[in-house]
Amino acid sequence: MKLKVWFVLIAALAVHSANAQVAQGNALDASVRSPGGTLAVSLRMNGEGRPEYSIQRGNQAVINWSRLGFILADAPKLERNFELAGIDQKSIDDTWEQPWGERRYVRNRCTELRVALREKTGTRRNLNVVFRVFDDGVGFRYEFPEQATLSQVNIVEELTEFDVAEAATAWWTPGGEWNRYEYLYQKTPLTELSQAHTPVTLKTASGVHIAIHEAALVDYAGMWLRRVSGQRLKAVLSPSSGARVSRKAPFVTPWRTLQIAPSAPGLYMSDLILNLNEPNKLGDVSWVQPFKYVGIWWGMHLGTQTWASGAKHGATTAETKRYIDFAAKHGFRGVLVEGWNKGWDGDWFANGQDFSFTEPYPDFDLVALAAYAKRKGVRLVGHHETSGNIAHYEKQLGAALDLYAKLGIDAVKTGYVADAGGVQALGADGRIHFEWHDGQVQARHHLHVVEEAARRRIAVNPHEPIKDTGLRRTYPNWVSREGARGMEYNAWGDPPNPAEHEANLVFTRMLAGPMDFTPGVLSLRGANGKRFNSTIAKQLALYVVLYSPIQMAADLPENYAKYPKPFQFIKDVPVDWSDTRVLNGEVGDYVTIARKDRNSDDWYLGAVTDEQARTLSASMNFLDEGRRYYATIYRDGKNASFEGDGHSIEIETRPVSRFDTLQLKLAPGGGQAIRIATNPGKAGPRSSPKPPPKEKQPEFDVE
Ligand code: NOJ
Ligand code: CA
Repeated sequence: MKLKVWFVLIAALAVHSANAQVAQGNALDASVRSPGGTLAVSLRMNGEGRPEYSIQRGNQAVINWSRLGFILADAPKLERNFELAGIDQKSIDDTWEQPWGERRYVRNRCTELRVALREKTGTRRNLNVVFRVFDDGVGFRYEFPEQATLSQVNIVEELTEFDVAEAATAWWTPGGEWNRYEYLYQKTPLTELSQAHTPVTLKTASGVHIAIHEAALVDYAGMWLRRVSGQRLKAVLSPSSGARVSRKAPFVTPWRTLQIAPSAPGLYMSDLILNLNEPNKLGDVSWVQPFKYVGIWWGMHLGTQTWASGAKHGATTAETKRYIDFAAKHGFRGVLVEGWNKGWDGDWFANGQDFSFTEPYPDFDLVALAAYAKRKGVRLVGHHETSGNIAHYEKQLGAALDLYAKLGIDAVKTGYVADAGGVQALGADGRIHFEWHDGQVQARHHLHVVEEAARRRIAVNPHEPIKDTGLRRTYPNWVSREGARGMEYNAWGDPPNPAEHEANLVFTRMLAGPMDFTPGVLSLRGANGKRFNSTIAKQLALYVVLYSPIQMAADLPENYAKYPKPFQFIKDVPVDWSDTRVLNGEVGDYVTIARKDRNSDDWYLGAVTDEQARTLSASMNFLDEGRRYYATIYRDGKNASFEGDGHSIEIETRPVSRFDTLQLKLAPGGGQAIRIATNPGKAGPRSSPKPPPKEKQPEFDVE
């Protein structure tokens, strides 16, 4: 793999002006426009010195005057009696390169407004608010400067509000419920939202799309949104066994983000969240490799295998060898093995303290299998299920990662299966405290794991994670995560994922970042043979539609053997892209995405629909001029449907050029996947593992 370094392509152009625009006649107000003039943010102190901001798009209000501020545990609240102590404005325009991602180059173009607030009387504490205004959205965060009168900051409540100006429809999942982020999306008038996780996606009556989320959630509690009245949403910080956030000043909060676009595709095309994160802190990250993987996983979710030891134990040496051989034959770099380590027997949901992260079960020869995989050009993918007992996990973390590093295992899936509020962490008092999956303690824990893993050149993929806020920019080994209902719900979910689920995900959860959804179950059947809501063409489309730099082919090898032609698309499709275009889409209804392979000139297209059949137009005008391409189309068959015959599929190869517009016919609950290649043959070598070395290999010992 070529050297991938972060570098600034165009040096930051920073134009400072002594003063941002101060509205005439009122020295307490400030306002700033995005570089292209699309959005404007205003800030004012109300009559009682309470800071408030608002957002306009053209002449239209998007966010009405909304509050800012904090309630503290052991100091007077920070929310009124403020004056404007200073304002500063600058323009930012730079372009940076992603080591992997949806697109190679990202432009960061915005206007920054920095506002210094000071209490008018009393201890005259300072608080800064920094806005970054892009043409496709706004981010703002608070800065707690160093000051004698507020050095230890214990926050019990953040008062940030988002008073949505126009009547809107909302897509959201409940915040603060026991199953973390794993809920079905609700579509309601915004006036019926109660408390939600972010991103919350809104479509206003005039068609403006807004997604409210956050960026750079570091050493702070995750933000939920509670509707307090009408269309006014308020930040709720994820709970903690102590103050919701405890920090020493100086520090900054995460960015509160609003992506604002005229259409649903516009939301997905926004890079605002990545742009608000700090650049790569890890230096050379050429060792972070995007890859596809298979694994001993779906069998456990079907109930035909177990994580626990015994007759149905999945993670045996022989079974793992079968998967390694399968991966090597079909070009998958990774083989995930769950249930390899001691601790799964009994009620593992409740017994995180039983897990050993260094001791394999006796029927799993970890050392021999890691070596066997390597010889075949394949890598085992590690697995650490913690059942939310991070106190226990952190004790073993160093040794567990050392073991993987020694064996050449360079990616680990972690897991935090525990009810929300059930994460067990070691407190400063030496006792176990119960914490939340998105609270400050868990925000710290995840970064600790990511940093320890980076030190050993290991990539991390947490399930039951804290939400994604774009930290992959700063820590590129944080490659993916779950954090929504994934494929596993099609095995045992009650109900399973509905046909509209993926069209919801793209414009909600996926706005936050990559998801390890684990697509590609071509059998279309969950536990006890129960048919789930998809077609085989849609399973293929998910590799393009649901972005992740690591993608699983989640089905059993014997099922792929039944569908060799559709399986070819899974073998061909890349996982790293130089460009991404959303060609069309409506939240929860349908979406078509085209992505260009990072390692060739080929494009791949995926389209999915909800329970409605649709014909979508897809212009090929993203293709190079004067070049002929070959489109291998995987489309739903004539009578295909997510409820009926899901396996009906038509596969056709035809020439295409940039002047073509394809009509994509999608069955109810179906999809379409297209490989658009400059050469109609097989995909390039990047999807194949490295060939085994020439010298004779010792025979593998199967117990
Ligand atoms: C839940 C995860 O989402 C799933 O992928 C994993 O197999 C189980 N936990 C066990 O770790
Ligand atoms: Ca899960």
